[in-house]
Amino acid sequence: MKKPKISVLGIGYVGLCTAVGFASEGYAVTASTHDAEKAAKINKGIPPFHEPNLQKLLEETIQNGRLKCLVNQTEKAVLETDLTFNAVGTPSRPDGSIDLQFIEKSTHEMGKALNQKNTYHVVVIKSTVVPGTTQDVVKPILEKESKKKCGSGFGLCMSPEFLRQGSAFEDTMHTDRVVIGEHDKKSGDFLESLYKDFYGENTPPIIRTTLSTAELIKYASNSLLATKISFINTIANMCEEIPGADVKIVAAAMGLDKRIGPLFLNAGLGYGGSCFPKDVKALIAHSKNLGYRLNLLEAVESVNKAQPLKAIQFCKDLLGNLKGKRVAILGLAFKANTDDMREARVIPVINQLLKEGANVIAYDPVAVPNAKAIFKNKIQYAASTIECLKNADCCILVTEWDEFTKLTPEDFTKNMKQPILIDGRRIYDPDEFIRKMKFTAIGLGQ
Ligand SMILES: NC(=O)c1ccc[n+]([C@@H]2O[C@H](COP(=O)([O-])OP(=O)(O)OC[C@H]3O[C@@H](n4cnc5c(N)ncnc54)[C@H](O)[C@@H]3O)[C@@H](O)[C@H]2O)c1
Repeated sequence: MKKPKISVLGIGYVGLCTAVGFASEGYAVTASTHDAEKAAKINKGIPPFHEPNLQKLLEETIQNGRLKCLVNQTEKAVLETDLTFNAVGTPSRPDGSIDLQFIEKSTHEMGKALNQKNTYHVVVIKSTVVPGTTQDVVKPILEKESKKKCGSGFGLCMSPEFLRQGSAFEDTMHTDRVVIGEHDKKSGDFLESLYKDFYGENTPPIIRTTLSTAELIKYASNSLLATKISFINTIANMCEEIPGADVKIVAAAMGLDKRIGPLFLNAGLGYGGSCFPKDVKALIAHSKNLGYRLNLLEAVESVNKAQPLKAIQFCKDLLGNLKGKRVAILGLAFKANTDDMREARVIPVINQLLKEGANVIAYDPVAVPNAKAIFKNKIQYAASTIECLKNADCCILVTEWDEFTKLTPEDFTKNMKQPILIDGRRIYDPDEFIRKMKFTAIGLGQ
């Protein structure tokens, strides 16, 4: 099969990893974004965000000309390629429902391009969109702008993305499954043969289904993962009331049960990031519109909202009044190996500390520039863990960065004014730390 030419709209985590992934496998890829600054960086081979293992292949594919990034040129991108992955953002509206403005705008642009095309072209929605969007929003816009019929005039699929930030590029290259929601068989066949060529002998199971089932698979997956996190946090909060109980051991034992599995059972300050919070909210809002209330997910969300404030409660239990106290925060990103701070759990933690009159100093290996855009000069930023801990009255561990897992009790006792540590991610051995300092952790009945 001659390799189809690929275009990618939106060059965030999903778009850029898809673009670099296909370019690194020998496809000619044209990306297009509205963000000129991002495009300039990409065209110099510099990723606009921190994501392990992306830099080298981005640089390589830009240099060998397989990947280029255009600014505001959706039409050109579509015209010079055979298939377009649409990976623009789908944020939340204030009421939690999905905001489709970027999908709608990019779809109008694609439709106009399809109108000028004489050859078959397949549009693939990769962004997370609520069930019905591809059929009821994307398809009518494409048909109206292109003046062509979907199916015969052009192809349409919905193929959700399951990558995890922090290992986004690896996940793009090796996924557990591929989901293809297809408008018609020809569209599905085209996309399936592309994926088979891309993954080669490592092609994962491919599920072919309707557009709306594909859309729901993504929400159902993220909602279950969010549910596991809120579930284990509920058990963690209960453990704190039971002397001798430890959620970490409860979770490890539960995880050995094949029906349950060990992943996403890490108790902590809750889930954040650009996906789980917005996807859970969007599904709740969408289902409400359909007349079915998602009580279970409403509970998942409310547990997650309260969870970061556990850190403040611990802080007050151990320190008393927080006014004027110096609180060191280790970790700002919503998880390790990313600089993304969207919906990071540290945001409600720091906001509450500031409200209580504490002086906050924070350190993160990569997320400080993004944190500065949020907290400005309301907090101090340290250049290292040790600088962050110096003279602090209390430390809250918020993100499970590898470098924090290597800290010993002495790193805290030698540098802090009062050696008080709150482990918000259960990365330290309580037995070791409790002997040497004032230590508490999520889900520890002491
Ligand atoms: N980030 C993740 O881990 C992840 C994982 C799976 C699925 N998703 C989903 O994928 C989608 C994209 O997520 P992301 O995190 O990569 O997004 P992002 O917010 O990092 O990037 C989206 C990009 O789209 C661009 N854009 C908006 N309108 C455009 C247009 N008309 N033409 C071209 N570019 C346009 C924006 O400038 C932005 O750079 C979302 O629906 C998200 O829910 C994200």
